[in-house]
Amino acid sequence: MIGYNWLGSSAVTLGSLLLSTLLPAAFAENTTIPSSSMTFGDDVKLAVNVPEGSAKTDLYFTFEAPAKDHTWAGFGMGTRMHDSLIFVVYRSADNQGEPTLSPRLGEQHSMPLFTTQVNTSILEGSTVTDDRFVVNFHCVGCRSWDGGEVDVASTDAPFFYALGPEGSLQSDDKEVQINRHEAHSVIFPLDMKAATGANGVPGIGSATDGNPTGAADDDSGSASGIGISRGVAIHGFVMCFAFALVFPGGYLFLRIFERVWLHWGIQSFGLLLVFLGVASGIAVSIREQLSPKLTHPHQIIGLLTFIVVLAAWTLGLIGHMMFKRKGIPSPLMKVHRIVGPSSILLGFINACTGLAWVGIPRAIIGYTIFNLLVVIVVASLVMLKKKRKMRREAMNSNAAHNFREGMPAYSHVRGGSTQQHGPADFAAPPPAYGQSVPLQTFGQQPLRQGPTEYYNVQPNK
Ligand code: HEM
Ligand code: HEM
Repeated sequence: MIGYNWLGSSAVTLGSLLLSTLLPAAFAENTTIPSSSMTFGDDVKLAVNVPEGSAKTDLYFTFEAPAKDHTWAGFGMGTRMHDSLIFVVYRSADNQGEPTLSPRLGEQHSMPLFTTQVNTSILEGSTVTDDRFVVNFHCVGCRSWDGGEVDVASTDAPFFYALGPEGSLQSDDKEVQINRHEAHSVIFPLDMKAATGANGVPGIGSATDGNPTGAADDDSGSASGIGISRGVAIHGFVMCFAFALVFPGGYLFLRIFERVWLHWGIQSFGLLLVFLGVASGIAVSIREQLSPKLTHPHQIIGLLTFIVVLAAWTLGLIGHMMFKRKGIPSPLMKVHRIVGPSSILLGFINACTGLAWVGIPRAIIGYTIFNLLVVIVVASLVMLKKKRKMRREAMNSNAAHNFREGMPAYSHVRGGSTQQHGPADFAAPPPAYGQSVPLQTFGQQPLRQGPTEYYNVQPNK
């Protein structure tokens, strides 16, 4: 299941990568109205104009899309559907003249909802024919909205478009129910800086300026709506890898191989991954305007998790160094045994909040099942190792050795007569294990009781 979800998001990310490589950067129009536009295989065209001067919240757009097999068409500003500002176009009730333009705010996995936060006015030249939607419009209050904003100084502001399914939809109602998109694009950039200047309807470059194959992804079977960015995907992968595999692996290797340096090495690698994960998390938050002030619960729990991981690592290191110096277990290790597992648990919780935030709740189920499997495998291996160790120690004990080597002295009745083996003063029953026979590895120096008991590993290695 995890494979499916990860494959899904990886495919989307790969798609974004490919498209951003294949597509030429948005180009600026050489007209008096500055614009930046993108053309997709002659079917979908989008251009933006950023008015300079007092109209500080305004934008102008031109949007064209195929109408023949689509009930609606739309485009959005943002890196994904959730929290983006979306403009949906469909036929008006009388199907004459201008189309209906409905500004909406993107929801996670449901229909974007009409918003009154922005004001749009349709401009001359807007039409719907059997084949095409064409809408030119002026939008006031469009540079920031509840959940996001567009950086007009950016040379690669993120946009996407989507096309509705076949059917009949004619309405003047801006809140009308629309069906899920049949296809959507990956995120593509528009150069807002180059589009800044005198205000007006932006022109669209000739069809040859765009990439004829830069078409929409088919949505059939897709679970994730508009794709997530490469930065977010890398951040999520690094974090999930660290918390689901590296840290549990560090614990497993400590218990299986009983070498503290191995545990130290693996957990230090995990700490490095978490550090990179936090850095990339902060970078995407700021760059992609995803709660850039880091106030989202996922970001807050994430930063807290990082502090707890750092504390676990520091406690482990200092506690172990103290033990090596003094020869007695440091009380810090007791804290480490609580803080270490807690940090892994926090990481798991925050991976789930991250997956919920990007809008792939199905991945949480897959990720949880994967983590449960890891816990089961690690716990089984550690228990198996413990059992084998106990058996080996019992076999190596003085009692077992005496039993094998010296034939324990005891008397028993055989054939009606009492027979005695060994010296007569050993004729009593054998002592119970652990009472008078110490359970100590045979042939070894007795280990200091504290550290062995406490570490349950070979503490000096
Ligand atoms: C330390 C524990 C953390 C874990 C385990 C974690 C994990 C995740 C995961 C699994 C995702 C989903 C990504 C995907 O599906 O590809 C995600 C998204 C994200 N994370 Fe984290 N993260 C952590 C900390 C942070 C921190 C400290 C920040 C920033 C301060 C952050 C910022 C983000 C952002 C901005 C997203 C994308 C949200 C979106 O696109 O809606 N994360 N994280
Ligand atoms: C973020 C990094 C770390 C995490 C998540 C972590 C996690 C853990 C966990 C889960 C345990 C087992 C607790 C138990 O059996 O109840 C443990 C034990 C231990 N850790 Fe770490 N650890 C980290 C870093 C370190 C470091 C840097 C050292 C230093 C050498 C270290 C030394 C030890 C030792 C000696 C034990 C055995 C303690 C015992 O048996 O009671 N750990 N750690």
